[in-house]
Amino acid sequence: MKQNTQNLRPALFLDRDGTIIEDRGFLTNTSEVHFYPDSFTVLKRLQKHFALFIVTNQGGVARGLQTLKEVDNVNRFVSTELAARGIRIEETYTCPHQRSDNCHCIKPHGFYPLKAAAEYNICLEKSWSLGDHLHDVELGEKFGGRGIFLLTGHGEKHSDSLPEKVRIAANLSEAESLIMKYREQIPEHYLTVKQGAEILKQGGLVAIPTETVYGLAANGLKEESVVKIFEAKKRPFFDPLILHIASLDQWQELVTELPSGAKQLAEAFWPGPLTLVLPKSDLVPDMVSSGLETVAVRMPSHPLARRIIEESRCPLAAPSANLFGSVSPTRAIHVDRQLGDRIDGIIDGGACTVGIESTIVGYWKGKYRLLRPGGIPQEEIEKIVGPVECFKAENHQDVPAPGTMKRHYSPGTPLRLGPAGTLNPEKKRFGRLVFGKHAYKDTPHIINLSEKGNTEEAAVQLYHSLRELDKLGLEEILTDRLPDSGLGRAINDRLERASAS
Ligand code: TXA
Ligand code: MG
Repeated sequence: MKQNTQNLRPALFLDRDGTIIEDRGFLTNTSEVHFYPDSFTVLKRLQKHFALFIVTNQGGVARGLQTLKEVDNVNRFVSTELAARGIRIEETYTCPHQRSDNCHCIKPHGFYPLKAAAEYNICLEKSWSLGDHLHDVELGEKFGGRGIFLLTGHGEKHSDSLPEKVRIAANLSEAESLIMKYREQIPEHYLTVKQGAEILKQGGLVAIPTETVYGLAANGLKEESVVKIFEAKKRPFFDPLILHIASLDQWQELVTELPSGAKQLAEAFWPGPLTLVLPKSDLVPDMVSSGLETVAVRMPSHPLARRIIEESRCPLAAPSANLFGSVSPTRAIHVDRQLGDRIDGIIDGGACTVGIESTIVGYWKGKYRLLRPGGIPQEEIEKIVGPVECFKAENHQDVPAPGTMKRHYSPGTPLRLGPAGTLNPEKKRFGRLVFGKHAYKDTPHIINLSEKGNTEEAAVQLYHSLRELDKLGLEEILTDRLPDSGLGRAINDRLERASAS
């Protein structure tokens, strides 16, 4: 069933200073450019397999030490010198800000690789980032690929303080060997946005990236397409689906009522990880809403999700792209391993940047209710519509929200939720999922969701970490609740359900 297309290219996202050319501080003039001796030979060989991009943080612009024009000049000179040796740089991406500006484009944020993926048909999962700072390596992880730390430039100086798992290469030549060794290991059959949209138009099933989790998409207005989602996922028909849109016009056609609070929520959080449940129009098939009179709608922010919705010209019904009840996928490879053979293809958009499903807010009898905690914290929702009641399936029969099942999001290995200290003496092989500072020394199998104790970082890591622990064939995974603030509440909700029996 799966389309075998090889049109997606992997890419190398190369740092500039200290990686391709010597790091001589913030450069203002082309006379200061000195290429490393192996840059030309290595990049020439690697471009046979990878599209090449430069991604460079030039904080000197924000600090007034260089102008953007000077930076552009140097960038152009670097590309021209490489071009003269037959090496093509597709694009050079510059972040002119400093970290305190909190911009989206500074490494390790995946902003530029995601942009490249959308514009140049790049398969991020097979792509690499290279550079002489930790953020160059983290960039690769952020976009769902891999990173290599180089000991050139500032690398040597920082190499003592690197986290253990970082891949290190002495220089570009050594990085090339590492990359070529890994090259063969990843699937080749991901779709481009155009191919995916074509399949969706013809009624097929395509897994798409969103910022929360990967979704299994079908044309949301065609019952015969939507039914395939339930079949592929083995999902019960009483669990309604979310419709994904790319513009507010699309929303208006799907609902019969737009209360002002809902509009304000949409203005504040769309595109993004918020789903709004409102009375549905006749356009929405009963199959999508499981016979309810309401429909759940979300406008995702992932650039590839937006493009695929636009190109397929219809709202896309999409639940998380996993078998019903199991852990949601946050990378293309997760989808491929579980559903690859049951669907028509996958669009690779890298690692999900939120990592946990959207917050679902419903409007019911004049009140806003939180139907599922998720990627937008409850506090943020309440700033806009005031206090919301949290819906729990057990104690509310009057609010229709099927699908908020007690057991859900579960790994194969039994998960036990705190109190943290309690060990079952019969379970010898166990692992731990921890958060922030901890003192456990009782198992080699520990994954820390966020060493810094940051709930956003923990959300990004949650499902991937559960999968990693699941692979180890353990008897039990132990974990504990996170603080109930920010994304902690949504993570606790998933941990509770993943551990429910
Ligand atoms: O982040 C997300 O929301 C992801 C990505 C792919 O967008 N999607 C997702 O879908 O988590 P799913 O199907 O796994 O969860 C959607 C949940 C349903 O289980 C149900 O509880 C709720 O949305 N839902 C959908 N329509 C509803 C409705 N009309 N009334 C109440 N709840 C509804
Ligand atoms: Mg550098």
